[in-house]
Amino acid sequence: MSGDPALSEDIVIAPKPCSDAHISSMQQYEDVYKQSIEDPERFWAEKAEALHWFKRWDNVLRDDNGFFKWFEGGQLNMSYNCLDRHLAGWRKNKAAIIWESDDGSTKTYTYQELHREVCRFANVLKKKGVRKGDRICVYLPMIPELAITLLACSRIGAVHSVVFAGFSPASLKDRIDDSGSVLLVTADGNIRKGKDLPMKNLIDPVLTKCKTLKHVLVVKRAGNKVTMKKNRDSWWHEEMSAADISNYCDPEPMHAEDSLFILYTSGTTGKPKGVLHTNGGYSVYAYWTTRWVFDIKDEDTYWCTADIGWITGHTYILYGPLLNGATSIMFEGVPTYPDPGRFWEIVEKYKVTVFYTAPTVVRALMKEGDDWINRHDLSSLRLLGSVGEPINPEAWLWYYNVIGKKRCPVVDTWWQTETGGILISPLPGATPLKPGSATRPLPGIVPAVFREDGTEAGIDESGYLVIKQPWPAMLRTVWGNPERYKETYFGKYPGIYLTGDGAKKDKDGYFWLLGRIDDVINVSGHRIGTAEIEGALVGNKAVAESAVVPYPHKIKGQAIYAFVTLKSGIKKSDKLKAELRDHVADVLGHIAKPDKIQFADALPKTRSGKIMRRILKAIAEGLDDVGNTTTLANPEIVDQLSRGRL
Ligand code: WT7
Repeated sequence: MSGDPALSEDIVIAPKPCSDAHISSMQQYEDVYKQSIEDPERFWAEKAEALHWFKRWDNVLRDDNGFFKWFEGGQLNMSYNCLDRHLAGWRKNKAAIIWESDDGSTKTYTYQELHREVCRFANVLKKKGVRKGDRICVYLPMIPELAITLLACSRIGAVHSVVFAGFSPASLKDRIDDSGSVLLVTADGNIRKGKDLPMKNLIDPVLTKCKTLKHVLVVKRAGNKVTMKKNRDSWWHEEMSAADISNYCDPEPMHAEDSLFILYTSGTTGKPKGVLHTNGGYSVYAYWTTRWVFDIKDEDTYWCTADIGWITGHTYILYGPLLNGATSIMFEGVPTYPDPGRFWEIVEKYKVTVFYTAPTVVRALMKEGDDWINRHDLSSLRLLGSVGEPINPEAWLWYYNVIGKKRCPVVDTWWQTETGGILISPLPGATPLKPGSATRPLPGIVPAVFREDGTEAGIDESGYLVIKQPWPAMLRTVWGNPERYKETYFGKYPGIYLTGDGAKKDKDGYFWLLGRIDDVINVSGHRIGTAEIEGALVGNKAVAESAVVPYPHKIKGQAIYAFVTLKSGIKKSDKLKAELRDHVADVLGHIAKPDKIQFADALPKTRSGKIMRRILKAIAEGLDDVGNTTTLANPEIVDQLSRGRL
């Protein structure tokens, strides 16, 4: 993590007077928070009423032996709540999604138009034999068909599993197999920075090995030539224009606890886990957190710059904004193409009011200088958000001063794939801000900082961030592996959700996030397990053993440092390093590529043969003191590795 939060603990920025905010004063926040904790079931039942239910729930919450059930007995439909609900009134001709492409061309879908496309695609899926509960894998660039696919799945009760387009074909295959997906939606290519990157052709070799996969639907995006496999592959546009596809599809009444989607994320060990979210609780939570945190109003133009391949995009590009009837911008491109003014050009073009991005983007654009910003009129902005990793106070202050011109509150939102939505964040009209702190929990959320022994840490004492009470959007299980769910999240402190993050709480009850304390690296807000990278490295024939650790990086937050020992007879060379980096990208995807690879004659190990990562981490960080080495079987290696540090 960059920056020292301690430096800014004394800076407090008072909230702007914002009397029309959904929560408009600290007193109101305290009152709502108190109610939400005293009687959570009543609180969440009241909140659930904002959505349309085909049938009301019987139970708000039930603990089924460590598996939490929300709104049991209730029936609703996500796409109905996102679309149909807005069609009766004036919103039917309001922009739901404004799509801005890589080259700056655009496409806008009103709620009515989006409804029609979603219904049509839902009918295509049905025609392919997709039924409620079937898994649909989605491997697409940031194009409107991605949003349409997800909403269509939710309409007929199919469970979507989106795989970020930057992941490798092999990672895609793992996820198709693990989820048992029957259908894949993909594209002929992905356009990035003006270049066509192949997609369908690249994944063809793995698709033939996916046993559960029956159909592949291909969106024409790049115009690349692709090979279509007979009886398996078909074009999106041909299916959509078929005469027997109607413009209306009944929404499937879904039980609150029926699965909505799976999203894979990295953990400490083994392969990524399929985090499962269900219909009822997730819908309620996505709706309310978007309202509270982004203070969303009908006149807003809201832009979250994430990719729908990650949870941020699921909850805060697609579902949360549409549940609220908002206008959400979906951007295909990157912040620095064609130049570093791209984001600010888009803000000006659409008069964006609420802007949500990641610290890594803030730092990267900060480095480019303020000229890029001063060329654009950013006066439409009223609220700024941050997500993905701790935001260092320097970046926070730049964001606040230079982008927000001291007018816009910055909401630093802490959450995870598993939490489904934001848990700790300021409320823009209420919470006094401290740069670098995610501040206070949202209503209904009870976080705490625990010591190793499960007692609560004192003020400013760092420890394990845990959540003591269940909340509606919490993950329900790890797909196909309920034991892993219990073990990972509720194993350390029974009945208490373990986040995997370190944190401390200050005298005002503000939370300061300190980064992951498990073997997960957060590179530019993307989560990658060290075990996955090590697995990829030892999968190369030159590698005997490897250990991967994070080190602080000015722009990315953390970067990847790999120590590698080679098989005997293999020569160390820069060429081999480059090969190994490419190899990891091939196996996992470019986001997992090690930034640095250091060849080692041996790794520091305990007498029982365990690699001492703590020491390697200290070396990678460039610390003079790597800590206690007395338990090592080979202490002499430490000096050698320190001297060879890159
Ligand atoms: C991990 C979750 C939540 C959507 C994007 C990432 C880190 C996330 C913050 C923040 C400090 C943060 C945590 C968390 N993180 N937001 N505002 N301050 N750290 O989702 O891939 O599941 O990663 O991201 O370490 O555990 P994810």
